[in-house]
Amino acid sequence: MPANSKETSLPIRGRARAGVGDRPVHRSPSVAGLKTLAEATQKIDALDARILLGHVLKAETAYLIAHAAEALDPEQAAAFDTLVARRVKGEPIAYITGRREFFGLDFRVTPAVLIPRPETELLVDLALARIPEKTACDVLDLGTGSGCVAISIGRHRPQARVTAVDRSTEALALARDNARALAARNVAFAAGEWFGAVAGQCFDLIVANPPYVAEGDPHLAQGDLRFEPALALCGGRDGLDAIRAIVAAAGRHFSATGWLLFEHGYDQAAACRALLQAAGFTAIDSWRDLAGHERVSGGRKLDGSLR
Ligand SMILES: C[S@@+](CC[C@H](N)C(=O)[O-])C[C@H]1O[C@@H](n2cnc3c(N)ncnc32)[C@H](O)[C@@H]1O
Repeated sequence: MPANSKETSLPIRGRARAGVGDRPVHRSPSVAGLKTLAEATQKIDALDARILLGHVLKAETAYLIAHAAEALDPEQAAAFDTLVARRVKGEPIAYITGRREFFGLDFRVTPAVLIPRPETELLVDLALARIPEKTACDVLDLGTGSGCVAISIGRHRPQARVTAVDRSTEALALARDNARALAARNVAFAAGEWFGAVAGQCFDLIVANPPYVAEGDPHLAQGDLRFEPALALCGGRDGLDAIRAIVAAAGRHFSATGWLLFEHGYDQAAACRALLQAAGFTAIDSWRDLAGHERVSGGRKLDGSLR
């Protein structure tokens, strides 16, 4: 796994999904356009080829299997070839199809936003564990990108009032569209730099998946990261610039008590705990993702405990 970087190809999490994912689970090779598909798998990953074929035919895997004997018409074959050529050049599947599943929900994604990662679901799990199901609560998501974290929280906690911030107006427009499409009516959006977008406001829980890849990390020149916005990835010389800024300012934005939880690189946990300690947080901890890496750190603010 890349040092400090957003991973490019993690297995989809073993969560039971209610939503529509873009990765069919059936792996039978007997699908519509079998010959075309077989040719494509000489050039790209077989699962990617299946996803792209399903995208062209606007069909789920079950349809592809049921129509196994049918050849693609010339228009479909040409469209499929174009998508395969884009994938051969390394373009992420999520940008080609414009979709990515996260926390059981189907998000639209564009090159203006980070492609939601399975490991970020840990951040949502930890947030949901701290948000009451039946009472109101104010939640802030810093660096919302596609809106995947804010919208997942909003959908699972309808009583919560979620505010989602991003500096990128393109990202915010997309996140707004996703909130509308996914009926997350309790999510509001604010444009600006971290807490500057919510000046004077206080929250019970603050979550963030900030940029945390160190400058010059060789992984920035590999895989999906080559196509993702630098604003979503790069966290300065040691990758911790955004985390430092968020930890330092969070104390002014809590209601009586509150939690700060944020994602970071797999080898940044100790540095993040030190930042939380220096800022006066209590109950400081780090949590591991499914790959066993410390992926999220956080701490609690008690009345008057923050410097
Ligand atoms: C790693 S991406 C996370 C996106 C999304 N939350 C996710 O988990 O997929 C970080 C996001 O922070 C935003 N960002 C970067 N610098 C920022 C700043 N100074 N203020 C507000 N947002 C910023 C980027 O535009 C990007 O959308």
